[in-house]
Amino acid sequence: MTADTAVDTEPFYSQLREDHYSPLWQLMGGIGPEPRTNLVPHIWRWEQTRKLLMWAGEVVPLEDALRRVLGFRNPGSRPDQRTGATDSLWAAVQLVLPGEVAPPHRHTPSALRFIIEGEGAYTVVNGQRVPMEVGDFLLTPAMHWHEHGHEGDGPMIWLDGLDSPLISRMNQYIIEETDDVQGVEKPFPAAYAHGLLGKTWGQPHALTQPLVYKLSDALAALDHLRDGEGDPYDDIIIEYKNPTTGGPVMTTISAYLQLVRPGVDTKAHRHTHSAVYHVVRGSGYSIIDGKRIDWATGDTIAIPLWYEHSHHNPTGEDAILFSYTDRPAITALGLWRERGNA
Ligand SMILES: [Fe+2]
Ligand SMILES: [Fe+2]
Repeated sequence: MTADTAVDTEPFYSQLREDHYSPLWQLMGGIGPEPRTNLVPHIWRWEQTRKLLMWAGEVVPLEDALRRVLGFRNPGSRPDQRTGATDSLWAAVQLVLPGEVAPPHRHTPSALRFIIEGEGAYTVVNGQRVPMEVGDFLLTPAMHWHEHGHEGDGPMIWLDGLDSPLISRMNQYIIEETDDVQGVEKPFPAAYAHGLLGKTWGQPHALTQPLVYKLSDALAALDHLRDGEGDPYDDIIIEYKNPTTGGPVMTTISAYLQLVRPGVDTKAHRHTHSAVYHVVRGSGYSIIDGKRIDWATGDTIAIPLWYEHSHHNPTGEDAILFSYTDRPAITALGLWRERGNA
């Protein structure tokens, strides 16, 4: 259209806005053949994380906070954006001090914990009391009541992982709270609590899967597999499974422990799910989007969707990484894709 024939479109667009219509031809900017996010890969160093968390312990009473949780906020996030470490995954550290109790609540986001430091704390999930030990991987599936307490000495610190940014964006985030702690006078037998046995009458049993996985079991499995070929992108990696379904531990989240063996350089890949890594022991580096990020024990790393990444262990010691992803959610939506050079 030449300047001679140009028409004044403003009255048209003005009318569209007034009457609540959307011109699709103005909405397609930024959409192309590759998935994109404004979030960026990032590492939060353990030394700073622990320092700030202990500071929170000094200045924020648990009565005020209910949960003393410091989230890892992706540096690419816009101020009003409902994101966590990645577009769909919240990651945080939580501190419980001796004698403190975080009262029961339940919510639609699914939660996991990986215990980093301390002893003597416990969580109660739908009436099952689960002691927390360093290296434990614990689950709080969606809408399971949970509360935490700490009867030991010294700070108790763990990593929290949730799908809350995803649930928030679907406007499905609900939370219920109560002051009534859960009765645990009559502990469940293990197989019943793990969903391997169930009663046939009345209300179904409220637990349907194991809620805790021990680090020693996961490490033994990695050790058993260490002489094998390994995954080209992750080296020796195992997924924490829900044994009652054979699938991921929760509807939206899958979780893993991996061993990057000394001297291993994995190949690079990218995928449409995002991941949060926590370094359980050892050190090494990852190359994410062409940049080297060195990591060591206690560090937490976010890899948002579709960033190319590889992992490297140039040391003589094992590097053990815990990670969780939104892969089950992305897969359920039919959106899972991977591109790699293996
Ligand atoms: Fe919670
Ligand atoms: Fe990956």
